[in-house]
Amino acid sequence: MDKFQAFRCFKEDKKIYGKLTEITLEDLDKGDLIVEAKYSSVNFKDALGATGKGHIFKKWPINGGIDVSGIVLESKSPSFKKGDLVLVTGCGLGEAHDGGYSKFVRISSEWAIPIPKNLSLEESMIFGTAGFTAGICLHRMEVNDQTPEKGPIAVTGASGGVGSFGVMMMAKKGYEVVAISGKESSHDYLKQLGASKVVSLEKLELGSRPLEKGKFGGAIDNLGGEALAKLLAHISPWGNVASVGLAAHHGLQSTVMPFILRGVSMLGISSANCPMDLRKKIWDRIASELKPETISNMVHKKIKLEDLPTAFEDILNRKVQGRIIVEI
Ligand SMILES: NC(=O)c1ccc[n+]([C@@H]2O[C@H](COP(=O)([O-])OP(=O)(O)OC[C@H]3O[C@@H](n4cnc5c(N)ncnc54)[C@H](OP(=O)(O)O)[C@@H]3O)[C@@H](O)[C@H]2O)c1
Repeated sequence: MDKFQAFRCFKEDKKIYGKLTEITLEDLDKGDLIVEAKYSSVNFKDALGATGKGHIFKKWPINGGIDVSGIVLESKSPSFKKGDLVLVTGCGLGEAHDGGYSKFVRISSEWAIPIPKNLSLEESMIFGTAGFTAGICLHRMEVNDQTPEKGPIAVTGASGGVGSFGVMMMAKKGYEVVAISGKESSHDYLKQLGASKVVSLEKLELGSRPLEKGKFGGAIDNLGGEALAKLLAHISPWGNVASVGLAAHHGLQSTVMPFILRGVSMLGISSANCPMDLRKKIWDRIASELKPETISNMVHKKIKLEDLPTAFEDILNRKVQGRIIVEI
């Protein structure tokens, strides 16, 4: 096969950079499926990896892109045949294995999810890791007895990818949602997604005592650090906090009080290594009860591979509302 384009990341003398590169199938990591990629997306993790701001990549050089959707071109697995539509999120893609920012992707069939009915290749990447992760949050919270009666759900980093889907999905399931966003310009957008209130973290004036007034029935937290610590103290009895991200800080300094005096649970959300049976269950829910009438309003921008460096800067500089989709 001829050469094709991929956004490949390199490390030279401790300097990390990514660039559009011509490669062949021989350059790709091994796997029993070759997929012709149609769409990918830009996640916070993709930006951390390609800019070197986070230690994401486990090998060099590597094609970035933790998400991909496309058409099976060649299969050595009995589970898939040429022409099948598939998606992959996480599973080491764009982290330990050449990822989705490439015209062709070679993967393990164990990572591939058949595109669910009622979802297009493009829609699957509008959701991508962000939508899938928000789906895990909702699912784990429900499994741990979250109900709308326990009170509103706070969503931090609300205008981002996970945040947008968190707001939309919780509202769709009947929860009152308080979207916490630092972007004044995103208030209308978040209300359209279903938030009943949009407020900045500063204006919420959360306290720093071990236990504070129970303001929220639960939370989806994309920030970590101080925001997460303060939120925990404001969760009402037996509520759940889904810990998703570290957009503000990876640290957490808290006390055991919310856990031992209020029965609050902190649920770990790790989408990249989510077990396959749960993965399929979440994608089925995404394609049915969690799919909004329209998701095009969640697309910040549709870009090409060559636009990735700008997209990485935008996402790290907090300039993105919703999702950046990569058309391959
Ligand atoms: N655990 C998992 O499996 C998993 C999966 C996906 C993502 N993540 C993590 O979850 C977080 C969100 O990911 P994403 O892809 O949705 O990213 P994103 O689209 O960039 O959204 C992050 C949002 O967080 C807020 N934010 C960003 N930097 C901030 C800062 N320094 N201080 C305070 N707020 C800040 C911004 O929202 P506002 O402007 O609205 O405040 C931003 O839009 C990231 O930390 C990512 O690594 C984890």
